[in-house]
Amino acid sequence: MANSVHFHDQRQQAAGISLREEALAGFAAKPKWISPKHFYDRRGSELFEQICQQPEYYPTRTEEAILAQAAGAIAEIAGHHASLVELGSGASRKVRLLLEAMHPASYLGIDISQDFLLASTTCLAGDYPWLEVHAACADFSQPMQLPDGFDGAHPLAFFPGSSIGNFTPAQAITFLGNLHNLLPRGGGLLIGVDLVKDRQVLEAAYNDKAGVTAAFNRNLLERIRQELDSDIDPQRFVHHAFFNERESRIEMHLISPQAQRVRIESEAFGFAAGESLHTENSYKYTAESFCDLAGAAGFKAIARWSDARQLFSVHYLERE
Ligand code: AVJ
Repeated sequence: MANSVHFHDQRQQAAGISLREEALAGFAAKPKWISPKHFYDRRGSELFEQICQQPEYYPTRTEEAILAQAAGAIAEIAGHHASLVELGSGASRKVRLLLEAMHPASYLGIDISQDFLLASTTCLAGDYPWLEVHAACADFSQPMQLPDGFDGAHPLAFFPGSSIGNFTPAQAITFLGNLHNLLPRGGGLLIGVDLVKDRQVLEAAYNDKAGVTAAFNRNLLERIRQELDSDIDPQRFVHHAFFNERESRIEMHLISPQAQRVRIESEAFGFAAGESLHTENSYKYTAESFCDLAGAAGFKAIARWSDARQLFSVHYLERE
């Protein structure tokens, strides 16, 4: 019989998940903003996978090369009885490198996009018949629990892709604190972190020539148009991404070139010409600044791997 996925719907506990509430509040705020977690409906998750294949977007292929090379060492540190918990599992592609090296008894993928989560964990279960596969639909920016029936005695949490960069440093400490609560003492955290580097390299990665990142950014407005009662026209907004050096982050915005009014439900919002809707921050760290941050949340640095160009860093931390 085919290996099946144990599905856990944890969205009720996920307070911050609602597009409607967050769009209404974010469009009313000054400056206007909305959380990047709303990028990831099915279409957004697909566009993100396409971003990862763009020549300018170095993080994915760099992290995969680091993981491929470090997988043996990671398996050794994690030990033989580890289970794997992946946060924001998306297409669950990177974790395959670890599964093959570690051979854990069980895997739990946690993601906000239910369709995408189910499709990718079902694939995983098919490809690894010996693996017990669990999927939890949850918002990992909120406190989390391991679902019933998942053996989390020796977990290794896996948070690849530099998704930690979406949090401000203060939010990142809160998130790592939530993870600290989820893990037992001695539990591992394997986390990918994008490093500070030349502005040209950073900005090219968020302004790919094919326009996939721009489409990904605009898809957020597409969601508002389709899922809420709204007259917003995504084509009347322009993608803008740049490196804010002082804050050490890439910022993504959607700019309204002309003044316009948009309606969401019964609320009307005015955009001045040139006004922006801030859609994403992607913080960049140095190896040291990241270790300090993790230390503040109770994680001890155990090992670190990087590429020759020092573009990206993979950290193995232990919960104290
Ligand atoms: C998934 C948050 C790591 O910040 O690079 C990619 C998202 N946004 N291109 C990143 C993203 C635009 C990505 N993270």
